[in-house]
Amino acid sequence: MGIASLDDLLKQRSGISGKRVLVRCDFNVPLKENEILDTSRIQAALPTLKKLSEARAKIILASHLGRPNGKPTETLSLRPVAKILSQLMGITVKFSDKTIGQVTESLCSNLKDKEILLLENLRFHPGEESNDPGFAKDLAQLAQVYVNDAFGCAHRAHASTVGVARYFEQRAAGDLLLKELEQLETIKSPTRPLFCLLGGAKVSDKLPVLETLAPHADVLAVGGAMAYTFMAARGHTVGDSLIEKDQFAEANKILDAAKSAGRKFLLPTDHIIADNISTSAKTRIVDEIPNDGIAVDIGPKTSSTYALEADRASTIFWNGPMGIFEIPRFAGGTKKLAQAVADSAGQSVVGGGDSLAAVNAAGVSSHINHLSTGGGASLEYVQGLPLPGVEALE
Ligand code: 3PG
Repeated sequence: MGIASLDDLLKQRSGISGKRVLVRCDFNVPLKENEILDTSRIQAALPTLKKLSEARAKIILASHLGRPNGKPTETLSLRPVAKILSQLMGITVKFSDKTIGQVTESLCSNLKDKEILLLENLRFHPGEESNDPGFAKDLAQLAQVYVNDAFGCAHRAHASTVGVARYFEQRAAGDLLLKELEQLETIKSPTRPLFCLLGGAKVSDKLPVLETLAPHADVLAVGGAMAYTFMAARGHTVGDSLIEKDQFAEANKILDAAKSAGRKFLLPTDHIIADNISTSAKTRIVDEIPNDGIAVDIGPKTSSTYALEADRASTIFWNGPMGIFEIPRFAGGTKKLAQAVADSAGQSVVGGGDSLAAVNAAGVSSHINHLSTGGGASLEYVQGLPLPGVEALE
């Protein structure tokens, strides 16, 4: 990989001491009424920030939050992130209400060594997502060095991840970005057997990664509503479970590809079904889904089979819940798998918001080898797709 690391920058004679460093982070955190519900992505940025601070850089942080579509949106301000970062870094993190412009420029040029300034949400500006060259240039003018540590949005070709990079002679990947790439590489070139566990609602959302992993993984197990599209495509009854009829042909193609590559493709053999999707629904465990049943979680036999595969695996990749995880009564299968992945001696990589929430809820996150901060980005990387945010650093 022809990209410089932060350590490479530190070793350069020109160094970064006393310089303004623009750091693209992914602080796209879950928020409710201005309260941050999960600080994992902020914590994951700390190694890079601490290194920059020790090197006496002037640190300018940029991130997006949510999808405000180019318009300032009060509920998506990054201000609460500055508060948490101040606690975590033990220094008051300054905040700029604007992302670019005169006021921001003067805040940046008045920064002292080791001080940190967080810019307002990049996506309040329409130029961010359109990778507008003018916006990228204005951003670049704020700093002398560029570090991209935002793995979670390395699959987006935006002004702050791509357009901005070419303005900097000194540019590098942050520690988080590099660690993510290194860990996900173990899925692309795994110690076998490789066990992939994919869940979530829609086959269409995960189609490309299913196509890649079905012939690549020694065992691929599917859970969540997307399992029912596969089952229906193979002629099983799935009752009123959520399915995508327009994906039957693709689903069959994926199943056939796994078969002809001699790989195991596992689908649920029993199910928790409910009469409706609510906390008060009547539920039962079945092998065959009746016409009026809605599958809401994998059953105990299925979770034991999948857990056994996790136990046998030398490498595990997991993305997506096994059922309607938001409703605690339908989260049993997902939690059991979180425990099984944590208990396995195999090298485990877990990505995607719901899977991370599951390992956190099961209290096993410290037993997972790598918790990826990128859902979409990790899926694109294991498919072998280029990540524009990484390529721009080359
Ligand atoms: C994510 O949460 O996956 C990243 O921050 C990217 O966000 P986006 O899907 O809104 O581009």
